[in-house]
Amino acid sequence: MTPEALIEQAKIAMTRAYAPYSHFQVGAALLGASGRVYLGCNVENAAYGPSNCAERTAVFKAVSEGERRFAALAVAGGPEGVIRDVCTPCGVCRQVLREFCADDFPIYGCDAEGTLRTFTLGQLLPESFSSDNL
Ligand code: THU
Repeated sequence: MTPEALIEQAKIAMTRAYAPYSHFQVGAALLGASGRVYLGCNVENAAYGPSNCAERTAVFKAVSEGERRFAALAVAGGPEGVIRDVCTPCGVCRQVLREFCADDFPIYGCDAEGTLRTFTLGQLLPESFSSDNL
């Protein structure tokens, strides 16, 4: 699957965001080593703290379905579902990704013009702590 196709899946996931408090809708598409794509959206909560990001929703869906090896992640997000800037995973989601993905794991985003941006997990979470350190 191309990065562009994975971004399109993330945009579909973004439309499913439950974000009545921040109004910031995020979608994630996680490509498993099997070829299966797991979609996630942010799911907010009136108590705020229990809210979950799109990326973690996708990771937890995949792991709970038995998949633990991943090829790539695409993220799309913006206020009211309108993409303005590249949306990269928050710090907590970066750490969750690090549990299952190596430094060279690719993460795709796109800006308002639709230009693809590619990051590696190592770029977004340098000198990370993982099971390698235990
Ligand atoms: N959010 C995500 O789902 N993923 C990100 O990468 C950044 C932030 C969510 C959390 C919250 O529901 C809303 O976006 C505003 O922070």
